[in-house]
Amino acid sequence: MRHFLTTEDWEQDELQSILDRAKALKAGASSSALAGKSVALVFFNPSLRTRTSFDIGIAQLGGQGVVLDARAGTWPMEFEDGVVMNGDAEEHVVEAARVLSRYVDMIAIRCFPKFENWQTEREDPLISTFARHASVPIVNMETIVHPCQELAMMMALQEQHGRVENKTFLLTWVPHPKPLNTAVANSAILMASKFGMNVRMLVPDEVYRLDERYMAAAQASCQAHGTSFDLMTDVEAAYSGVDAVYAKSWGALPFYGQWADEAPYRAKGRDFMVDDAKMALTNAATISHCLPMRRNVKIADSVVDSPAFLGIEEAENRLHVQKAMLEALARDMDTHS
Ligand code: CP
Repeated sequence: MRHFLTTEDWEQDELQSILDRAKALKAGASSSALAGKSVALVFFNPSLRTRTSFDIGIAQLGGQGVVLDARAGTWPMEFEDGVVMNGDAEEHVVEAARVLSRYVDMIAIRCFPKFENWQTEREDPLISTFARHASVPIVNMETIVHPCQELAMMMALQEQHGRVENKTFLLTWVPHPKPLNTAVANSAILMASKFGMNVRMLVPDEVYRLDERYMAAAQASCQAHGTSFDLMTDVEAAYSGVDAVYAKSWGALPFYGQWADEAPYRAKGRDFMVDDAKMALTNAATISHCLPMRRNVKIADSVVDSPAFLGIEEAENRLHVQKAMLEALARDMDTHS
């Protein structure tokens, strides 16, 4: 049985097949791949795009989505093995996964890290526990990676640039008042490197390196494709000649859970907002963001409202790529049933 937990588990040609199918669905192809099937959508965190696009996409495939708000609409949930459940949690993921598997054909989960202890949270414990105990495919709707966003990003890049191999992709850290999840940043470098792009990461300081698991995976992909991977702190050099810019803010992992100490490093990035002057250094690059996005903090209005901005297209693509991915999982289930 195949899950969709991270694109690290999927080959480039498998992901390209999903993207090709998503392009056909976007062009109007219809599908009843989920007819008679249901999908639980379990949200431990808020969402606009993910909830809407999954719910509607499942209906368009002839299936039924059941949205569960795990913060308020279900029992507080525990996921640690062997824990004595004498705190707030009433339900263990072991039972939740087994019971939901009796009702539905797939389970999709959004669960951000708690920003307390990266050494445990980097193992993605809740969704991993679901995947161990469910008897149906598990889909990642964003945990410490955001694989559906990766697909939507690559679809938008291919729509705009055609073949992306050997083009240069810049992931730039951008300002935000709070330390945010590294999921989209991890995903951006995984996907750009897997599809043969030269990858640059621009950060205010090397403390903003992503987890070594993702840095190493992206570097290995670049090496396999004969492309480059560079961690940079010089803004002009990083933007110079790139074809695609991706903006994201995240918290520095060495200060995980003790964010006050991160402040001096965050201050070094105070001028990192994407603006016209920076975009003028590029090779007429496109610019995107996963959304939601704070205007004039992360990206200037003039850039967001320019034809170079792909964020709305990328958001629409979430619907199409998720439908194509759910079709692929349903096909896999039928093959193995
Ligand atoms: N990009 C994204 O996942 O959006 P939501 O958080 O609104 O679902």
